[in-house]
Amino acid sequence: MGVVDKRVQTQIIAHRGFSGLYPEHTQRAFEEALKLPIHGIECDVRLTRDGKLVVFHDATVNRTTNGRGRVATMDYRDLREFNSGTEDDPQHILLLDELLELLSDYPDKHIYIETKHPTRFGPEVDEQTLRVLRYNRLQDSERVHVVSFSHSAVRYFAKQAPELETYYLFHLRERTWNPGNTMLSKPFGVGPALSHLQSKQELLGFKGLKTYTWTVNTPREMLWCAENGVDVMATDLPNLALDTFERGRGGVDGVR
Ligand code: G3P
Ligand code: CA
Repeated sequence: MGVVDKRVQTQIIAHRGFSGLYPEHTQRAFEEALKLPIHGIECDVRLTRDGKLVVFHDATVNRTTNGRGRVATMDYRDLREFNSGTEDDPQHILLLDELLELLSDYPDKHIYIETKHPTRFGPEVDEQTLRVLRYNRLQDSERVHVVSFSHSAVRYFAKQAPELETYYLFHLRERTWNPGNTMLSKPFGVGPALSHLQSKQELLGFKGLKTYTWTVNTPREMLWCAENGVDVMATDLPNLALDTFERGRGGVDGVR
């Protein structure tokens, strides 16, 4: 590894909360992440059948809870019965409202909200996200960032909430079907997966935009991000990222 660049301040965000150590997207995982001296957290949001916005990654609850079924075909009151934690530390599926409430206790922390696409609800997931942000008076907050694999979502937020920072996430197969990196929206930043970014380094600072990458889980990858000027990196292991940057820094200020 080379010397860490003094000018770089790669921001650490906890992917799905502190998901390397706690069950993903749970209050526990977010609380444990927010206690750390990191930039913030990343989460995914989806709509339930009755239009509630839940903090959840998969289309079904099967992998991460003790329930079965599709998020989009269940009402929130039924989803809330499932345990997404452990037997010893049960956790319920969070509403985005609840996560924002938790975030309000950490006024220096940022949140990166990924509106999950495609879904049966199409643009409604974006519309409801903006409603929830407005309700919480966060529609123009510098602490809120919206990330999405959908150019339509990026365009929607750019138009309806232009002060929110948006990131377009490159799809995993984008390097094959969009080798020229054609952009169909105008985000503040781009978010290729780490392997994509490492293989197409022209995406670093692409078109003068900020660079976000995911999911960065080893010290070598973390140092690569810092050395290559990545602005924001999502990791399941924010504690490891802090330790790595502390060790890699060796007296160089500002790398976090
Ligand atoms: O931060 C972007 C990243 O979370 C996208 O992938 O599947 O973990 O939501 P996924
Ligand atoms: Ca995500």
